[in-house]
Amino acid sequence: MANFAPPPGTADIFPEETLRWRSLEKTAEKVFSLYGYGELRTPAFEYTEVFKRGIGTETEVVQKEMYTFDDRGGRSLTLRPEGTAGVMRALLNTDVMNGNEKRVYYIGPMFRGERPAAGRRRQFHQVGVENVGRVAPELDAECMAMLMHYLESLKITGAKLLINTRGVMADRIPAGEKLREYFAANMDVMCNDCRQRLDKNIWRILDCKLESCRQVVGQAPDYVCYFSDESRQYFDRVCRLLESFEIDFEVDPLLVRGLDYYVHTVFEVVHPGLGAQSAIAGGGRYELFLPENKKPVIGVGFAAGMERLLMVQDALKSSLPLAEPAPVFMVSMGEAARSFNMKLAFILRRAGIPVIAEVEEKSMKAQMRAANRCNARFAVICGEIELESGIVICKDMEAGEQYELDPVGLQNFLKPKFM
Ligand code: HAM
Repeated sequence: MANFAPPPGTADIFPEETLRWRSLEKTAEKVFSLYGYGELRTPAFEYTEVFKRGIGTETEVVQKEMYTFDDRGGRSLTLRPEGTAGVMRALLNTDVMNGNEKRVYYIGPMFRGERPAAGRRRQFHQVGVENVGRVAPELDAECMAMLMHYLESLKITGAKLLINTRGVMADRIPAGEKLREYFAANMDVMCNDCRQRLDKNIWRILDCKLESCRQVVGQAPDYVCYFSDESRQYFDRVCRLLESFEIDFEVDPLLVRGLDYYVHTVFEVVHPGLGAQSAIAGGGRYELFLPENKKPVIGVGFAAGMERLLMVQDALKSSLPLAEPAPVFMVSMGEAARSFNMKLAFILRRAGIPVIAEVEEKSMKAQMRAANRCNARFAVICGEIELESGIVICKDMEAGEQYELDPVGLQNFLKPKFM
């Protein structure tokens, strides 16, 4: 079967499962629209520069994980590894840079060349939101509240919200210096990656996963006290607002996030039911630069990994009730009856009734078995006698009762059952 498997780190999603994906999407639409968000759809690939400049050339995503290729016109393009940079590129075509706020959400596949593992794919899916154009701690707090509201609507309990502040760029110079002094003095026990991070991206040392590095990181100086008063007050207000919303959270000074555009608030939601890939969502406030733009686009947002949301729902056995498509099944005896039923099926479907019609000559018993296999709610039976009288038999598969109806009567009978 190996030949028929999709490429590593990707998956096929079959109709039974698609229902669950749709419930994540529908809930997103329902919850986010309560906060004034509308859906934005952007291309699945962008000019490579959008991500290099937007996410940062020193990030792992840009350095190691992007699917980049030249198209036939010689343009360098990249499959989007995340949604924010492309959304900002699209919003630059609006009046967002004049302080006019935009609230958008997006749903779709993202691509990162990571080592596949449980909860880690090369093509994965995110549902994300961006509140763009304004800076206010109220917006950061509202954004996290909306994420928690979304998770609650998906019946995901036990998730933990971790938050931290990255200050603004100017804060990171004095704070980064303090960290550099400390880490330089402890470099002999740290990993090779951290040695490189010392010069290139000191903040990434804070989330190194290696035990020897974590021990050093655990004793690192409290860098936030070197941030400006404004930055600390900003974060304090975010925390107070979350408290007033009665949202549980934990301040995690080691949370820095892997993308370079973040300023002020950063956050992640983790779930113990997930094992190693425990982050179900992440986000924060950002200043995102795009090629040719001297001024960054500002905003706050998050993205949740849809595969991981489903995994948590599985672990909690808490997926939403799914709308099972229980169709009407058309049983025909003979070719003329089949023609009659095919036409009737077409009429019923246009009236909003889901119908599956048997198209082969099969025994009544085989057709009723097929009706059961697709969970049909009703079977409509037409044979020679019914054809002559113009009256078909409609069998209620649950109640076991049956009715004799003409086509118009059948439609009137079935329609309210599928409203
Ligand atoms: P991120 O933390 O890189 O943030 O990704 C968000 C979520 O996507 C993660 O928490 C995880 O659930 C899921 N995810 C990431 N990589 C994978 C993967 N390889 N396989 C499965 N799931 C994955 C961002 O992407 C930012 N754009 C979020 C944001 C929006 N920040 C501000 N606005």
